[in-house]
Amino acid sequence: MPPHESELRSPDWFRSVVFYELSIRSFYDSNGDGIGDLPGVRAKLDYLTDLGAGAVWLLPFYESPWRDDGYDISNHYHVDPRFGTVDDLDGLIADAHGRGLRLVADLVTNHVSDQHPWFQSARRDRHSSYRPWFLWSDSGTEFSRARRIFPDYEPSNWTFDEVAGQYYFHRFYATQPDLNYDTPAVHEEMFRFARFWLDHGFDGFRCDAAPYLYKREGTTCQSLPETHQFWRELRAMMDAEYPGTVLISEANQTIAETVAYFDRGREFPMVLHFPIMPNFYLGLAENNPKRILDLLRATVPSVPADGAWAYFLRNHDELSLEQASDEEKTLFFRYFPLPPGARVHNGVRRRLAPLLGGDDNSVLLLTALILGLPGSPFLYYGDEIGMGDRIDLPDRDAVRTPMQWEKGPSAGFSTAPPASLTRPLVTDPGFGPAARNVAQQEENTRSLLWRTRTLLRVRAAHAAVFGSNLYQAVDLGTAPVVGFWRPNAEYSVLCLYNFSIEPQSGSVPLPPAVWASPVELVRGGLTSTVADHTFQYRIAPRGFSWTLFLARHPAASVAAASPPA
Ligand code: NOJ
Ligand code: CA
Repeated sequence: MPPHESELRSPDWFRSVVFYELSIRSFYDSNGDGIGDLPGVRAKLDYLTDLGAGAVWLLPFYESPWRDDGYDISNHYHVDPRFGTVDDLDGLIADAHGRGLRLVADLVTNHVSDQHPWFQSARRDRHSSYRPWFLWSDSGTEFSRARRIFPDYEPSNWTFDEVAGQYYFHRFYATQPDLNYDTPAVHEEMFRFARFWLDHGFDGFRCDAAPYLYKREGTTCQSLPETHQFWRELRAMMDAEYPGTVLISEANQTIAETVAYFDRGREFPMVLHFPIMPNFYLGLAENNPKRILDLLRATVPSVPADGAWAYFLRNHDELSLEQASDEEKTLFFRYFPLPPGARVHNGVRRRLAPLLGGDDNSVLLLTALILGLPGSPFLYYGDEIGMGDRIDLPDRDAVRTPMQWEKGPSAGFSTAPPASLTRPLVTDPGFGPAARNVAQQEENTRSLLWRTRTLLRVRAAHAAVFGSNLYQAVDLGTAPVVGFWRPNAEYSVLCLYNFSIEPQSGSVPLPPAVWASPVELVRGGLTSTVADHTFQYRIAPRGFSWTLFLARHPAASVAAASPPA
């Protein structure tokens, strides 16, 4: 049995690990053709485990014409040859597992590529068995309440196909026809797709476009009961046949609709927390986390006992403001100065560091917040070094440029010359490879990379609290500070985050169950004293702290004394 096998199978592993999302295409090129590949990811596993990642989410690697960067699959059972072979993938999985690192794939079920043989057969022949795998119309007027997700690029969810002689439905690009879930064979095929890659050893899936599978006239065609039922069945299958694997929902919806994907423990074990995400940024914009506190109050208790929120700051898409109100959007755009063209769809195609004006303290504040909350944080490759973006590239390619390993001509990403890289490097002098790269930050213990890695290590060392669901909000009145306890039978950690650009002082009464001798776990700008069983803190502007208190009587700590909020 490989060394980490039993640990890898623990059913709620996903709650204590940090996920690292990466684009294979842009991570590391092993053979000098200018395109990142699977052996390239394999070559960088030490970097990922050193950083403290516990799971890697690989963006789609299936055969694809790359009209939507692999979210347009033309063969579900092949690895795109530009990334390598299925043997390369198996090797990567084996090596990752040997290091105790899990791998999650993207399960794209809503649509396929228009180049897929299923769609080609369906459009060419009305009697093809694949015709009912897609949604056809003579008028292209049905499902008019279904919102368009790429409004900047697609004028309608229906496109006329000359060969088919009918319109077909697509929620995303016209090159991504939607599958028709009323056809039972589609259902079966998607289960086959999931099993196929689970058999290769994947530890779960991030489920792309989870709300959109079923369409019904007169509805918004999102989050319909039939769609939830599909996911429940997939979860049941995976629990029965592949215990210890995880499903993560991508549902960018309102709070109520997003929470529904947990379905009290019957559906997704993990749900990406889209509703809170823009509020992290608004907390900085207003120098006040009141919106974050509201969202935490509304959503932390919704998690079922065996589930977890998946928190993220950025990903491979635009920073979505779809759920933000007009007032919130105005606030956002007023505070974050955007170069022309940075807005796309309903959001912003910028990376974390440039968006935050290169302020490492703000980056760390938000990173430490998502690392401290109950649930698991998702980091996006390159954000740990404060890498930049290129908004002159089309659409979301802006935030998918090659990883900056070194300052050399191709940033250590490839031996190919810069002009032949799959995507050009960042040129912004403040955020490009010369200014921000892994090699240089390895040399400097004050770098963003070191400080991020320290946070991950501290979190991993205290998985007993950070990997649990226990959470107790601290009422700090109107102070612009987020505060909460992560309690446990042995010890408790008090987490404080100052969103203001002024230092903040205050006090937190200590629960009787803890010893009044704190241990500061990370150096984030805290000074503190304890008097009369009250913790007096002073935190630097945009600073944070994680402070450990041992339990007086291990069995009767804060965890026992106060139920999770
Ligand atoms: C969500 C993915 O994150 C995005 O990159 C993609 O374009 C759409 N789903 C369509 O698959
Ligand atoms: Ca390559």
